Amino acid sequence: MTSIVVKGGNLLKGTIKISGSKNAALPCLAASILTNEVVVLEKVPIIGDTKNMIEIMRLMNIKVNVNDNTLMIKSDRPDFKIPSRFSKLLRGSTLLLGSLLARRGRVELYGYGGCPIGLRPIDLHLYAFKALGAKIEQKKDSIEIIANQGLKGAEIFFNFPSVGATENAIMAACVAKGETILKNVALEPEVLDLVKMLQSMGVIIKVNSRRREIKIIGTKEISGVKHELIPDRIEAGTYAVASVIAGSKVVLEDLNVMHLRGVVRKLLEIGAEVSIKGKSNLQICQAKNPLKSLNIVTKPYPGFPTDLQPQFVTLFTQAHGTSQIFETIYENRFLHIPELCKMGAKIDVLDRKIIIEGPTTLHGSEVYARDIRGGVALVLAGLVAKGSTIINNAEVIMRGYEKIETKLRGVGAEIEVIK
Ligand code: EPZ
Repeated sequence: MTSIVVKGGNLLKGTIKISGSKNAALPCLAASILTNEVVVLEKVPIIGDTKNMIEIMRLMNIKVNVNDNTLMIKSDRPDFKIPSRFSKLLRGSTLLLGSLLARRGRVELYGYGGCPIGLRPIDLHLYAFKALGAKIEQKKDSIEIIANQGLKGAEIFFNFPSVGATENAIMAACVAKGETILKNVALEPEVLDLVKMLQSMGVIIKVNSRRREIKIIGTKEISGVKHELIPDRIEAGTYAVASVIAGSKVVLEDLNVMHLRGVVRKLLEIGAEVSIKGKSNLQICQAKNPLKSLNIVTKPYPGFPTDLQPQFVTLFTQAHGTSQIFETIYENRFLHIPELCKMGAKIDVLDRKIIIEGPTTLHGSEVYARDIRGGVALVLAGLVAKGSTIINNAEVIMRGYEKIETKLRGVGAEIEVIK
């Protein structure tokens, strides 16, 4: 087991470089299977989730060369079975369904993994595959999806703008005969990054953001590509919160400020000293006045991202007054709250509403990370807590944050990783 130990109280000062997006890397890795030509992906964060995805792909007879943050992928004849021992670990492996179904005409997925932040069914994914003409066979502990006659374009309406289902439907539709129209789609920047990569691979895709619709024209000619991933907006948001509660002055570099505009607006409302430096830099200085409490609702993009909810819970423990965060995306993304309360936070959860009293003094404690974002919220709490905090099961944090200890130590945090 890996633990992270953070000694609180240091004021953060300096620069943090933001890595490529984990949630763009996973769908783009899956999309590389759509062609038998070479695909080069740049700015891939080398983290638990991408390492797992690379491992799964290699087990499926796909060639993946890793050179720092650049991956070269070639899939001459990918298997259609997604190995069970990995797919339970990584929710992102469900993203292989669409591209494998497109490439092989069938796919078999054993179980499926991801964080325990709520039943994360794939009913919308399967609904889209069925609409495109595939047959679904539920076996004892695997799902088989078959399209012997190939896939056929369709009009598909998602009753929820699921990110993964949107991405899987887009990848399957790339080879479906004729035109596919997806309605009520997710429009997260990571979805649009996948679209951009597929367009560069020769697929005709039109996005109508206002109507939340995506049109894909199926094709047989899908070529290789060199694609640079967008920066990770959730990593950037995480370090922005760290700077607001523990900063003296931190500059975040290489991010895409546009992807965080809703979050920056909230930080300004809270009274944080945030200034945008061009398109890719954010400067955060220590707030002159006490941080203000706020009410937030998590929503699909461009609303407030659920992936920053745990980090903002930690932030609000340091704000003056009662803050509320209404978690509308996951039914139980609350596993970090008992751990924060162990550190002295005053938080209640009523149904899906999180109510945080502040400001409270946090005390270093031994706590447990249960998922990527809940875990990192404990690291942020450790930065401002009195004394040292030990975060156990820190592997789950490393799944989503490249070199987190190096990046935080680089701005003066006392943090180490203990295997
Ligand atoms: C993506 O997960 C992200 N992961 C998640 O980030 C993120 O929290 C989520 O989108 C929402 O923004 C990746 O991109 C790899 P969803 P995904 O399908 O695609 C329900 C992180 O920390 N749902 O939009 O799985 C589901 O149960 C991770 O980086 C169905 O009911 O999210 C959930 O409550 C955590 N049926 C909600 O929709 C389905 O078929 C959001 O799911 C699919 C989803």
